[in-house]
Amino acid sequence: MTKGNEPTKADFVVVANRLPVDLERMEDGTQRWKHSPGGLVTALEPFLRARHGAWVGWPGVADVEVDPFADGDMWLHPVRLSAAEFREYYEGFSNATLWPLYHDVVVPPVFDRSWWNTYQRVNQRFAEAAAEVSAEGATVWIQDYQLQLVPAMLRELRPDLRIGFFLHIPFPPVELFMQLPWRTEIVRGLLGADLVGFHRPGGAQNFMWLARRLAGFEPSRAQVGVRSRPGVVQVGDRVVRVGAFPISIASGELDQLARTKEVQQRAKAIRAELGNPRRIMLGVDRLDYTKGIDVRLNAMYELLSEGHASVEDVAMIQVATPSRERVEHYKQMREDIERKVGSINGEFGRVGHPAVHYLHTSVDRKDLIAFYCAADVMIVTPVRDGMNLVCKEYVACRGDLGGSLVLSEFAGAAAELTSALLVNPHDLDGVKDTMLAALNLDQAEGRRRMRALRRQVLTHDVDRWARSFLEALGTSPTS
Ligand code: ADP
Ligand code: G6P
Repeated sequence: MTKGNEPTKADFVVVANRLPVDLERMEDGTQRWKHSPGGLVTALEPFLRARHGAWVGWPGVADVEVDPFADGDMWLHPVRLSAAEFREYYEGFSNATLWPLYHDVVVPPVFDRSWWNTYQRVNQRFAEAAAEVSAEGATVWIQDYQLQLVPAMLRELRPDLRIGFFLHIPFPPVELFMQLPWRTEIVRGLLGADLVGFHRPGGAQNFMWLARRLAGFEPSRAQVGVRSRPGVVQVGDRVVRVGAFPISIASGELDQLARTKEVQQRAKAIRAELGNPRRIMLGVDRLDYTKGIDVRLNAMYELLSEGHASVEDVAMIQVATPSRERVEHYKQMREDIERKVGSINGEFGRVGHPAVHYLHTSVDRKDLIAFYCAADVMIVTPVRDGMNLVCKEYVACRGDLGGSLVLSEFAGAAAELTSALLVNPHDLDGVKDTMLAALNLDQAEGRRRMRALRRQVLTHDVDRWARSFLEALGTSPTS
């Protein structure tokens, strides 16, 4: 892959909005690289490292020019975004138009024509960067909603490439997708790939319906399976496959890390620091309005006010990674959440026993695993989530078969983690009752459920996800 210190063309290339590392500018003017947030990077990074591939993406800061560089066994190829592009392509079209539209219109999407123009321009830049780093006949795997035009743009530039696309967020119901003024362009953009992948068969079916309705291409009619029976859309003389590939995590590695003495001791220390409560309840999320953080806070408020829980008995921890902080709906949501935490703590907290321990930060990996090991109840209540990796991480860390998982039916993971305590996040009574049931779950019942969850998560890891996608793309996952 390398010739001296110069990157050569790569046979396997990932293209994502973000690089797996973010450039951080320190107050003293120095810079350092830190791990990027979110599930996409968590899932793809271990796989790409093992494959010695190249990764094309934005370094996380506007207006910086960074040369390609090696990070362990990967080559990273930074794509520059100007401050205006950051505003219009990233904050605007990606995160104030597509993100809410694809998440069931939880908040109203904004449709802005200048954002769309910038989205096209930036997608073209990513396509050019991918064309530049790819060797003849290479496999290029394009990721997520920020880059939906890249497959067709890249095919135009480099018809020799094998092109895959995977959407990490839900693909919306067709009625919602049809709101998008640029719906046909997006569908045509995706159809530039040889394989378009979604988490769930429903997303694949929706996309195929739209390929006919908006682009006039005839799709196959048979139901799409999970990791099997991809659908087919005939696009001129090309065949585009459309499949469902539920993403996962490096579960074996997490399982091992969770068993180490260091992590176990850290988990014990967390419990002791909290005053050894009978139960620890945990939420871990990017601070995003789709994650239903308010849902669990409201349920906790009612459990405390109705006397079903006390702050001495139950400690709730919410760790929330800062995310998209300048986008209006994120600002509002942060204020709402922090006001809610403040009022719950004001009303129910005691000296040394806040009702909710709220950390607005990202924590390092070993600490996160220790939190998972310490938590008796993990609360994952998104109102819509493509997959949700946090719940899978929790399960992977519970080799002791302890702990219980409360999981929203509206997370993609609910289709696989059927032994979790499933809740409808819109039903506050249901969430509250289930949280209470989880706090008092019979040990044997808890172990039975956790064993079944672990069977799923440990056998369906991220490697299997990537292999099934790449096999369907017709490229050997080990080459
Ligand atoms: P999303 O991709 O929407 O952020 P996922 O649940 O799929 O949601 O993935 C989130 C990833 O980010 C997980 O790997 C999780 O461990 C990590 N993460 C989330 N919150 C934090 C946090 N506060 N500190 C460290 N890692 C976090
Ligand atoms: C989700 C998206 C990713 C995104 C991540 C973090 O996982 O699917 O594409 O990278 O959230 O969001 P951010 O906007 O910080 O990249």
